[in-house]
Amino acid sequence: MSNRPVELEVKHLCKYYNAGRKRLLKAVDDVSFDIYKGETLGIVGESGCGKTTCGKTCIGMLEKTGGEVKFQGKDVHTLSKKERFDFSGKVQMIFQDPYASLDPHQKVYDIVAEGIRIHKLAKDKAEEEHMVLELLDMVGLNAEHAMRNVHEFSGGQRQRIGIARALAVDPEFLFCDEPISALDVSIQAQIINLLMKLQKEKHLTMLFIAHDLSMVKHISDRIGVMYLGNMVELSGSSDLYRKPLHPYTQALLSAVPIADPKASRERKKIMLTGDVPSPVNPPAGCRFSGRCKYCMSQCFDLKPELKEVEAGHYVACHLYDEK
Ligand SMILES: Nc1ncnc2c1ncn2[C@@H]1O[C@H](COP(=O)(O)OP(=O)(O)OP(=O)(O)O)[C@@H](O)[C@H]1O
Ligand SMILES: [Mg+2]
Repeated sequence: MSNRPVELEVKHLCKYYNAGRKRLLKAVDDVSFDIYKGETLGIVGESGCGKTTCGKTCIGMLEKTGGEVKFQGKDVHTLSKKERFDFSGKVQMIFQDPYASLDPHQKVYDIVAEGIRIHKLAKDKAEEEHMVLELLDMVGLNAEHAMRNVHEFSGGQRQRIGIARALAVDPEFLFCDEPISALDVSIQAQIINLLMKLQKEKHLTMLFIAHDLSMVKHISDRIGVMYLGNMVELSGSSDLYRKPLHPYTQALLSAVPIADPKASRERKKIMLTGDVPSPVNPPAGCRFSGRCKYCMSQCFDLKPELKEVEAGHYVACHLYDEK
């Protein structure tokens, strides 16, 4: 995996919000990772730990406070107007809430055609129509749906429209921010399968944010775990599930049901106690220290760095410091 070209390079990324009275809310604080071309990187973590902020800052939707993000070698925060236009044809996003992210009074056809028009991808009306219908077909909708308004569709269908809209410009990179969490469980798997199929066919690179750990495993090649603005673990997805190293990841995973009863019995159940502390004045040292049952004295003052402790498996935890 690591000899693949890097598509998105994130170095020491910080995104702070002003929390009033000269205090800073450190939503993303010194996060570094790469996404290789053609892979899907999943990011998981509890609500408020900075996943959306990280993703949006990575694709330049939010200004950064510090650090650097490069997409195909170019700094996404200093693109010229022309570069930004090209970037918008290469990088697309799918959002959590298909009700909020699509205008309910627009026709499906126009929503999907918009990107084609902006980027002048069709030579005439007939070609545009052909492209739109092909996109709808790709996501499991048909020509009859094209002329209907968005408000006539269910959540799952709306998410399909959102996917068709994102794919209309033939992007290379897709940022999916919890694209299934607003959907019924029965529909979630359909959308995941659709995204996986499209990713393969179109060789997309994806950043996939999720709450649901069992779903994210299927779609991700690697997974990063965020806690309170920090990346605390990063590894291949099956490695992470087989052998989570960070106590936070262990706790997150112990809440996920596993099909194999023997593996399920053998797995330690760890309960997460207490709430995520505030990202305004986060604890010094390890941010998980207050909730960690393995907490040692150094965890309170020394922030653990994300280090590779096994091939391709990174963790930020003093339990793995060299003795
Ligand atoms: N525009 C904003 N202004 C101020 N604070 C913000 C803003 N957006 C997010 N935050 C704060 O930044 C932190 C991270 O938020 P973010 O939305 O990135 O979390 P998340 O991991 O995506 O959570 P969720 O799983 O609920 O979507 C939170 O404490 C949030 O309150
Ligand atoms: Mg979010």
